[in-house]
Amino acid sequence: MTLNTAPLAELAPAKINLALHVTGRRDDGYHLLESLVVFAELGDRITVSTYETDSFAVDGRFVSDVPLDGGNLVLKARDALRAAFPGHARPVSIALEKNLPVASGIGGGSSDAAATLRALARLWRIPVGEAELARLALPLGADLPMCLAGRPLVARGIGEHLEPVEDFPALPTVLVNPGIAISTPDVFRALTRRDNPPLAALTHACDMFEWLAATRNDLEPAAMSIVPAVGEALDALRQTGAAFARMSGSGATCFGIFDSQAAAQRAADAIGSRQPGWFTAATKTMIQEPRR
Ligand code: C5P
Repeated sequence: MTLNTAPLAELAPAKINLALHVTGRRDDGYHLLESLVVFAELGDRITVSTYETDSFAVDGRFVSDVPLDGGNLVLKARDALRAAFPGHARPVSIALEKNLPVASGIGGGSSDAAATLRALARLWRIPVGEAELARLALPLGADLPMCLAGRPLVARGIGEHLEPVEDFPALPTVLVNPGIAISTPDVFRALTRRDNPPLAALTHACDMFEWLAATRNDLEPAAMSIVPAVGEALDALRQTGAAFARMSGSGATCFGIFDSQAAAQRAADAIGSRQPGWFTAATKTMIQEPRR
């Protein structure tokens, strides 16, 4: 079979919840959240091109953890966009480079699905705005709208109400995952409180580290009760000089913020050599939408 168009690529960046407060629960069981979210330069990569039939291929470090059937969010995203715009949607070849650990609190499948929607909207020349794409994406997962936005923001509701955060700095960051997947529903089920205080207002006058220190990830104690190695990942980040360390999302990936990119790289190298079975990577958070 031959390719009909030049491939289009989109980064599916790691999502980092710098703070995540659980403030309530809806009648349908979904939790109400307030979260400051940023995205990293490190991520998976989605490449799409027009093809004679639909196809899906995966490679990358975490290829063996990715389902290839219709349960994959990449394929659900393709099918949802095709259903909404049937006149535009020609058969497509989709390739996923899976660089991030799955079920790990940094967006993973949601970011892949968001990148798929962005890439296919370009490939199929669909005149769809960001807000319409986000509405279409929400049924695929609560994190989809924020992953589509791909820039610093505060998310509220179950993740559908987004408020951009302007002028947020790019942060030298280390991501550490102790190699154990955690089920998001299990973590929410393990919560002992669901009515915690909301985030404090984030203004230009705030010192970021002081503001962060006064916030929480309310899912962290619950995740740690399921996977105690989350505590080891946090210790490793603090021992290697992180100015701030916390778990992202429902875990088990933890992030550390460092004073410089060189310090982040040194810490990642040190943790990686001590714990070769873990996923450890130095990166930087992005101040705007992902680069292709
Ligand atoms: O929306 P998504 O499929 O990513 O969520 C996975 C699961 O996590 C949901 O089925 C639900 O159990 C839980 N969840 C929640 N509240 C949220 C997001 C997710 O309870 N805001």
